[in-house]
Amino acid sequence: MGKTGREIRPLVAGNWKMNGLKASLGEAMAVRDALQGPLASLPAEVMIAPPATLIAGFAAELGSSPVLLAGQDCHPKPSGAHTGDIAAEMLKDAGASAVIVGHSERRTDHGETSADVRAKAEAAHRAGLVAIVCIGETHAERLAGSTLAVVCGQLEESMPELSTAANTVVAYEPVWAIGTGLTPSPDDVKDVHGAIRARLVAQLGVEGEAMRILYGGSVKPDNAATLMAVENVDGALVGGASLKASDFLAIVRAYENV
Ligand code: 13P
Repeated sequence: MGKTGREIRPLVAGNWKMNGLKASLGEAMAVRDALQGPLASLPAEVMIAPPATLIAGFAAELGSSPVLLAGQDCHPKPSGAHTGDIAAEMLKDAGASAVIVGHSERRTDHGETSADVRAKAEAAHRAGLVAIVCIGETHAERLAGSTLAVVCGQLEESMPELSTAANTVVAYEPVWAIGTGLTPSPDDVKDVHGAIRARLVAQLGVEGEAMRILYGGSVKPDNAATLMAVENVDGALVGGASLKASDFLAIVRAYENV
C-alpha cells in the first residue's frame, strides 16, 4: 500500500533513451544487486528500458532478477517489410516485459500521433507486454492554460479500449520538464495526475482506479521523494538520472520506507 492508501504497486522505470553500450551492463547489475540485497523488501517494481540492442544481453545476465526490462518503442505490426523497426513480439522474445510508447521524443522526432501510439500500445498488448503510454503538454500549452485538455485528449486517443491495470501504465511527462532540470510543483503534479485518474476511471472503471500513473521529467535523487509522495503518483519514469546506478537507486529509495 502506497502513501495514497491505494493498493497500487509503484513502478520506477529508467529510460536510457539512445545511451548505453554492452559495457553499461555493470549499471544494470548494480541495480540488480541492490534489489537482491539492501533493497530486497522494496515495495516498488524497478524496470530499465535500455536501447533495444542491449535487451537480450541484459536479459541473459539478469536472469530471473527483480530488474524488469522494457523496450523504448515498437512497431504496430508483428512482422513485415519495415526496415529498422522492431515489433513488440521481438522485444518480448529478447526478454522485455514492457515497452514505452508515445514518448514525446518519438512524437516530436518521428511525428507520431496519438492514433499511432494507440496502435503501438495495442501491439504491446497483443505481444503480452505492458504498454507504458506517455502523455504530456508542451511549455506553450501549459502557458496557454490547456494542460489538462491536452493531457486528457492524448490519453483518450492513445489508450486502447481494452486497457487494464495489468497491461497498461500511464506516464505523465511534461515536455518542458524533460532533460531541463525543471519540474512542475507538487500541486501542479497533483492536479494533472488527479485529472488523469478521473479520466481513466471514466474510461476504464475499476481498471482505471488501479492503473499506475508515473511522473516523468527531471526526476532526480533530490526531488524524487517529494514527487513520489504526491497523490496519484504511482512511480517515476526517469531519463538522465537512470543512467548511473547510484543515482537511479537513490530515486528508487524514495519507496524504501513507504
Ligand atoms: P529526464 O529524466 O532526463 O528529464 O527524462 C525524462 C524522460 O523523458 C523519461 O522518459
